[in-house]
Amino acid sequence: MIIFFHNVKRGPEMIWKVFVTREIPAAGIDLLRAAGLQVEVYEQDQPVPEAVLLEKIRDCDALLCLVTDAITAAVIGRAGRLKIIANYAVGYNNIDLQSARQHGIVVTNTPDVLTEATADLAFALILACARRLVEGDQLVRQGNFTGWSPLMMLGTDVSGQTIGIIGAGRIGTAVARRAHGFGMSIIYADNAVNKLIEKEYRAQRKELDDLIGTADFISLHVPLIDSTRHLIDQRRLQLMKSSALLVNTSRGAVIDEEALVRALANKTIAGAGLDVYEHEPLLAQGLADFKNVVLLPHLGSATNRTREAMARLAAQNIIAVASGRAAPNAVNL
Ligand code: DGY
Repeated sequence: MIIFFHNVKRGPEMIWKVFVTREIPAAGIDLLRAAGLQVEVYEQDQPVPEAVLLEKIRDCDALLCLVTDAITAAVIGRAGRLKIIANYAVGYNNIDLQSARQHGIVVTNTPDVLTEATADLAFALILACARRLVEGDQLVRQGNFTGWSPLMMLGTDVSGQTIGIIGAGRIGTAVARRAHGFGMSIIYADNAVNKLIEKEYRAQRKELDDLIGTADFISLHVPLIDSTRHLIDQRRLQLMKSSALLVNTSRGAVIDEEALVRALANKTIAGAGLDVYEHEPLLAQGLADFKNVVLLPHLGSATNRTREAMARLAAQNIIAVASGRAAPNAVNL
């Protein structure tokens, strides 16, 4: 695909400077450079230290940052001429939106391009938990597979079961499509009616607590905002069926992780599949001790094609603003 941009180099003193907080796929950097922007990448494969961020933000027009960067009011307050913060993620809870708005800085995200990859990973966790994939792999590697046995490692059916989708936006909808293909009954909780999944996949909308008490699998697809922090707390974990599995590919803090450890220890629920953590990359004490929990290192969007598309989209938002156009994926203005 060839994309044409207005060249945004208007004279030496006016060249737009972009600071990228970690190496991302070259597709995005190439687009920025082809549009005449000056790009600096923090090249070490670790979150950019705050001191470096505070220094760089004084002198750039665009910041391309990641979910691992805390773009706080203090950071934004140091900006000199910053016009756009392009987050390399669909979620943007790492950015103080209000502060950006007060400074007239547009914040953008990367929706749509990661929907299918993230829904795939949610479903991978559903299958891995239900059919004990990680435990089975370990058993074989440890040399403990002594032959087929009628009662060995029995798991839970996926087809014919009920999935409760919390948050029926883009990713929740894509999970519903997969669940329908697997012959599951679908219930969902969302502030808005999702006519598509109701019509196409016979999904039924429920009150949150009702969904939690009914579902065999619960998959979380809400953004992390004040009202969703600890949405799954001790009380709601106790509402779950003792045979139910909880899957989270959204944001760690949607679950009270310490309450989850207690629920697993007390066998209040049957297990969990997690891609995200409340204090990422740290885990709540005891979480890694459970065999019935599958733990992944925040891989939701981690495919080559998806990460390249995210890089291009973040770059396109920056180029739009640099060219005097509206950012296609603005979330705060
Ligand atoms: C997102 O886009 O919000 C993901 O969590 C990062 O891959």
